[in-house]
Amino acid sequence: MIDIKLSIPAANWKANLTFEQAVNWINYMETNVSRIIIDYQEYIKLIAGVPYVYIKPLKDISKRVKIYAQNMSHVLKGAYTGEITIIMLKSIGCDGVILGHSERRNIFNETDELINKKVLLCQEHNMPFILCVGENLEQRRKGIAFEVIKNQIDLALKGFNKFELMVLAYEPVWAIGTGVPMEISDIKEAASFIIDYLRKNYKEVPVLYGGSVEENTAYFATFKTGLSGVLVGSKSLDPIEFERIVTLTFSGVNNLQFDKEHFET
Ligand code: 13P
Repeated sequence: MIDIKLSIPAANWKANLTFEQAVNWINYMETNVSRIIIDYQEYIKLIAGVPYVYIKPLKDISKRVKIYAQNMSHVLKGAYTGEITIIMLKSIGCDGVILGHSERRNIFNETDELINKKVLLCQEHNMPFILCVGENLEQRRKGIAFEVIKNQIDLALKGFNKFELMVLAYEPVWAIGTGVPMEISDIKEAASFIIDYLRKNYKEVPVLYGGSVEENTAYFATFKTGLSGVLVGSKSLDPIEFERIVTLTFSGVNNLQFDKEHFET
C-alpha cells in the first residue's frame, strides 16, 4: 500500500460572492469533481473560508467541504456590539476559523497579541484554525523575512499546545492579490524554514502556501516541497477553477505526475 498524504486545498472567499453564488459553489464541489477527489476524498481536506452569514446555510448543504469562518472575535461574550464569537460559531457547527490573515492585520490593525487571544480561545473550545503568517515587501527586501515569520509564530502561539487543531498558512503579503505568486524555489526555501522551525520548537503541523495561487502554483508549491496545501483567494471564487486546484494540490502533495487524466470526472 502506498503512503498517501493528506492534502489541504483551502479557499478564502474574502468579501466576495452572493449567497446564490456561494450555494452554487458548494453544490459544484459536491457533484462535479474529478475521479481523484472522489477516490481519495479521505485524504483531501477541502476547506472554504466563507462570510459569517453564509456559514450555517452552507453547512446544511455541504458534505465534502469544511466550512470555516474568515475571522472571529477575541472576546468570548458580552457587550461588544457587532462581534461574532467562538461560542456563536460553535453553536452553528462551524468547522474552523482562519486567524491572523494579513488583511486583518493590516487593514483592521490586528496585533500579534490579539491573534494570540483568538488562538487560545480555539484551544479552549477545540476549534480547528488556520493561522496565517507572512512578511511584507519591505521586510523581504531587508532580508528579515524569516525573522518576521518566526516572531509572528512565537507571539501567536504563546501558551498554546493543542497542535492537532492547527494548520499554518504562509502568505507573503507582497504576493497576495497581485497575480504574481512567489517563485517556486523561494516557496521551497520558506517552506523548509517554517516546517523545520515548527518541528524543532513546537510540533509538526500541516503548512500551506498562499499568495496568488492558481493551478500551476497549487501543483508546484506542493510538489516535493513538504507543503500540505494552498490557501487561495481570487482563484477560489470560480468553482470550476478551484476544483482543478483541489485535484492539483492532491497530485502535488502526493508526487503524482501533472497529467490531464487527473481531471476526468
Ligand atoms: P490571492 O490568492 O487572491 O492572492 O489571496 C491569497 C489570500 O490572501 C488567501 O488567504
